[in-house]
Amino acid sequence: MLYFDYVVIGSGIAGLTFALEAAAHGRVAIVCKAALYETNTMYAQGGIAAVLSSIDSFEQHVQDTLTAGAGLCDEAAVRFMVERAPESINWLQEQGVYFDTDNDKTIALGLEGGHSQHRIVHVKDHTGLSIQQVLGQAVRQHRNITILEHHMALELLIQDEKCQGVQLLDLKTHEARSILAKAVVLATGGSGQIYQHTTNPTIATGDGLAMAHRAGAKISNMEFFQFHPTALYNPASKDTFLISEALRGAGAELVLPDGTPFMHRYHPQGSLAPRDVVARAVYHEMQLHNSSCLYLDARNLAEGHMQQHFPLIYNKCKSIAILAERDLIPIVPAAHYQCGGVVTNLYGQTSVPGLYAVGEVACTGVHGANRLASNSLLEGLVFGKAAAVHASETIQQQRLTSYQSIICNRLHYTGHLTYADTLTIDGLREELKLTMWENTGIVRTTAGLAEANYKLAMIRSEAEKLTSLSAELQELRNMLAVAELTIKACLERKESIGGHFVENQSVKIEQLA
Ligand code: FAD
Ligand code: SIN
Repeated sequence: MLYFDYVVIGSGIAGLTFALEAAAHGRVAIVCKAALYETNTMYAQGGIAAVLSSIDSFEQHVQDTLTAGAGLCDEAAVRFMVERAPESINWLQEQGVYFDTDNDKTIALGLEGGHSQHRIVHVKDHTGLSIQQVLGQAVRQHRNITILEHHMALELLIQDEKCQGVQLLDLKTHEARSILAKAVVLATGGSGQIYQHTTNPTIATGDGLAMAHRAGAKISNMEFFQFHPTALYNPASKDTFLISEALRGAGAELVLPDGTPFMHRYHPQGSLAPRDVVARAVYHEMQLHNSSCLYLDARNLAEGHMQQHFPLIYNKCKSIAILAERDLIPIVPAAHYQCGGVVTNLYGQTSVPGLYAVGEVACTGVHGANRLASNSLLEGLVFGKAAAVHASETIQQQRLTSYQSIICNRLHYTGHLTYADTLTIDGLREELKLTMWENTGIVRTTAGLAEANYKLAMIRSEAEKLTSLSAELQELRNMLAVAELTIKACLERKESIGGHFVENQSVKIEQLA
């Protein structure tokens, strides 16, 4: 059994921000189920939204966020986040992140969908990687921080109606162990892996959300899964590579297979409309043209612009013989971001005492029915810090006395699956992903949602027959829980709004564009 002041589950931007802030006040353990850097954060391309120019204002950033969220955001949370964005960028710079600058050495500001001003702070098209590297190095060097890589959190330890720790599985030795802490922080990211096509890496299986749900935490807004309109269409690859919205901000246009632009028919902001509108338009035009993809036309960008500002995307395209200055880039929508999550207040507190949630796993209220581009790295920074400040003040009054009585290692993990079990788990996982993609995707139908419900019940009954517990099985169970919560939320919402769109259902006025 290990004892810490804080245990942080997850090593993306939210978890590392929390850890670095909290480490000034006590001992922190960071737990992550893969290597420290393997996070959604690492793959972020476009950047972080922040008001940094004199022609921009907090009010405009707030209004853009509320509009994208289709009227379902918590305005107080949005203002809290927007007003703290400049200091968060400053903090990242102090940690050693070098954002791109213009010729006059001021921070260069990009444009993305739904933003009325240029306000996206970035490091070329690999913003997330730069942040992950800098924060990763900082936590490794901090003497108050212990890092447990390749340790999967299995269950939260609840006693006396309070979260007191977490049970872990060491993925290298297959041993179960527990950490007890005065504050437990979920920073486990999203759940894109519940969909067949996703920009998210394999770690994004919704574990934190499922654990919180099992512990009785309040969950909300799960019907609002965000689909990114422009993932690279590359059927030869298993992974889905993102083509950043920032490329559209720089002038690239969405076009039909014959090269005709179409987005102005759907929204006055054209290719830079809020993401839910663009994803649905792309989906609709793909159906109309019976086409397996649409295209992004970046041929109008100044010579060398793409190589200089979007090197990751340029080189990825080049690696599959697409020259962006010569060819159209084939794109398809893909599942991208979980707007809902574990409900928190402004300080990351969940409905379970002792349990905090920060980053994509949390539902702070800032995204409403659809997240504004580049607001999620910001959310992780702002609420990661706010939660650390709150937790460090709260834990001062706590003692470790009642911890001895906590029953640890309640679950027995063998870690050994038979070959047949592995095949079954893989099969059920693929079935779940396909079901969610086909029935709970960009455009939903009532019949499709009911079918998904039925299929998930079948998958659950098969999964429950498996007894030899392992990380793979636990991930499947977590994905099932997240998928079930998503469908339940879809069925409960009686109108289409934001990222939730059901054919033949009434549409909230904000979404008519
Ligand atoms: P993550 O960065 O996802 O970290 C999750 C951590 O939790 C990982 O360390 C993982 O190992 C750990 N974990 C999960 N389950 C367990 C478990 N059971 N036990 C132990 N550890 C566990 N947002 C923007 O604002 N701007 C962008 O430009 C942008 N671009 C994006 C591009 C891509 C391709 C993707 C996928 C997302 C993008 N996003 C962007 C969204 C943004 O990157 C994420 O929302 C954000 O990084 C989430 O950060 P996080 O700290 O909450 O979680
Ligand atoms: C992108 O670069 O298009 C992703 C931005 C985001 O998800 O906020």
